[in-house]
Amino acid sequence: MSRNIFTPALLCIFLFLFVHTIVAQQLAGPYTAVPADVAKQVNPVKATPESLERAKKWWKLDCAMCHGDNGDGKGSLATDMKLKIADFTDPATLKARTDGEVFYVIKKGYQDMPPEGDRVKVDENWDLVNYVRSLAKEKTAAAK
Ligand code: HEC
Repeated sequence: MSRNIFTPALLCIFLFLFVHTIVAQQLAGPYTAVPADVAKQVNPVKATPESLERAKKWWKLDCAMCHGDNGDGKGSLATDMKLKIADFTDPATLKARTDGEVFYVIKKGYQDMPPEGDRVKVDENWDLVNYVRSLAKEKTAAAK
């Protein structure tokens, strides 16, 4: 008899814990893997036209096939692999990310994204951080 009372209650607790864990993971994300000192790093490379121009070369070679030329996440490889990629043209996407975190993701990879590793020099990796951020700014400017 008592089972009939407790089972739904237990189910509720389990469901709550389950949902809670999922939500917590979503909020924390793999960004919890970014070491705190790296996350705090400020981009030492100014987002000059030169920096963006340097990054564009790498973006076209290594990023656009997934993230799209304009960063909307709809590159041809992403479509082929059925990847769901965030839209960098939306300023909200990377708003909460620090430069250090974005740097780390580019260098080390993230989910289905391969690491850039040593393909690019440290400064070029920072150029890419500038570039990724510039994709959102363009939209903000265009919307005004
Ligand atoms: C094979 C496809 C692929 C390639 C190539 C790729 N990415 Fe990604 N990228 C992804 C996926 C998948 C994610 C994770 C999903 C998401 O965050 O939208 C991601 C996430 C990111 C993020 C984090 C977004 C967030 O949510 O915080 C950044 C920044 C990023 N990529 C930049 C780059 C840059 C710069 C390059 C080129 C050097 C690159 N990516 C190359 C697939 C790719």
